[in-house]
Amino acid sequence: MIGLNIQNVSKEKIGATHGVEIDALFGEYRGQIADIVTRLYAEKDTEGGWKKWLNLGYDETLAKEILAYAKTVESHYEDLVILGIGGSSLGGYALLKALLHPYWNNLSREKRGGFPRFHFIENVDADQINGLLDILEPKTTLVNVITKSGTTAETMSAFMILKEWLEKSLTQAELKKRLVLTTDKKKGLLRQIANEGGYTTFEVPDDVGGRFSIFSAVGLLPAALCGVDIGELQRGIKELDAVLKNSELKDNPAAQNAVLQIYYYKQQKPISVFMPYSYRLAAASDWYVQLWAESLGKKKDLDGKVVHEGPTPVRAVGVTDQHSQVQLFNEGPNDKIFTFIEVTQPDQDVTIPQQFNHIEDLQYLNGQPISRLMGAEFESTRASITSNQRPNVTLTLKKVDAFYFAQLLYFLEVQTAIAGALLNIDPFDQPGVELAKVYTHALMGKKGYEHLVDEARGVKTPATVQ
Ligand code: PA5
Repeated sequence: MIGLNIQNVSKEKIGATHGVEIDALFGEYRGQIADIVTRLYAEKDTEGGWKKWLNLGYDETLAKEILAYAKTVESHYEDLVILGIGGSSLGGYALLKALLHPYWNNLSREKRGGFPRFHFIENVDADQINGLLDILEPKTTLVNVITKSGTTAETMSAFMILKEWLEKSLTQAELKKRLVLTTDKKKGLLRQIANEGGYTTFEVPDDVGGRFSIFSAVGLLPAALCGVDIGELQRGIKELDAVLKNSELKDNPAAQNAVLQIYYYKQQKPISVFMPYSYRLAAASDWYVQLWAESLGKKKDLDGKVVHEGPTPVRAVGVTDQHSQVQLFNEGPNDKIFTFIEVTQPDQDVTIPQQFNHIEDLQYLNGQPISRLMGAEFESTRASITSNQRPNVTLTLKKVDAFYFAQLLYFLEVQTAIAGALLNIDPFDQPGVELAKVYTHALMGKKGYEHLVDEARGVKTPATVQ
């Protein structure tokens, strides 16, 4: 199972100014965590509570439906295009980047086992869209449109472009086979379009928000279509869930990390750095940043009081960022808590060959596995952060496979939910993105938004700041 090492927040490791007495700190939070975890799991089936993501790892029916559909399209397509944004895109992308070959799209069809290449459109950028269409062939492309609300402008506009592009070369019957829509069961324009057109659909379940939806069809369908073992994802979640539902803080690592993150946030360390030492986990950093930022950055608390809470997540990747951000991490303001991700058994290794034998200063590399260098760099960077008295924790994954990767993401979801409760905010809403959305509607000429055009253009001061 995924492991958590929190020793480097202790006074012994980072000194009395920045370190804590772990047992004493956990003693203070013990009762609060027991309430939070008990309530979280008690409400996992509650209508309107947005906690049903806690059930996704157990949904065998969903996994079967997805696998059955994946079977029907297997080997039919060269390319899978996924249209979505935010929580409807980042999780699927993180999954595929972590679990497939790092250069999957460059592999031959044979080496991909007949599974398609994958492409995400998560921006309204003509360069990205046209660039992708330049390399695709409508007859061998499957498009998965993902939007829970079914109304998101970015996703719907990309869908409209892709649909027209497909229609130019395909009959309506062929088009039907090339579209698979993931959206709400009843609500939204995409659901209406699916009903009218008779397209294949998968549901984003009720009470599962975008950034907590990775283990619904939102993430599982693209994963299964590219050959990822989704049963292993669910198996990983189930194993971990048995531990995370524990209301005793000393036995619940996700609760422990939530406590440390929020404790340090309140102790003038508002920045949370997430730094996996793995190329394949780089996209998981992006997923984490959205999860943490959109869940915890809130103006009001649960009592309606204006609080402007929220730790700022920072994405980093080891070892690359050692030559970028680590200077700041070590010597800049001591305003961060670090989460390192360590992988103990890399799938691949490569030995640095005997080269340049006449250069004494390169001999220490000769004949060494590259994973040893990665491990040494991880340990030394962590040691330097610790020596500089910066609190840090390490999550350890045995391997980057479906089982452990699912555990990493699920751990972070539960940690985020608990952190939200510790901050007394709602981690499952996102009112702060609404204003920009309605301004966009106004600027794009959507009916009913005319009165907001001047505000959106900045020529009229909004009522909120007058
Ligand atoms: O986490 C969230 O809720 C958001 O990031 C949404 O996923 C994002 O706004 C996309 O929404 P939708 O799936 O409705 O298109």
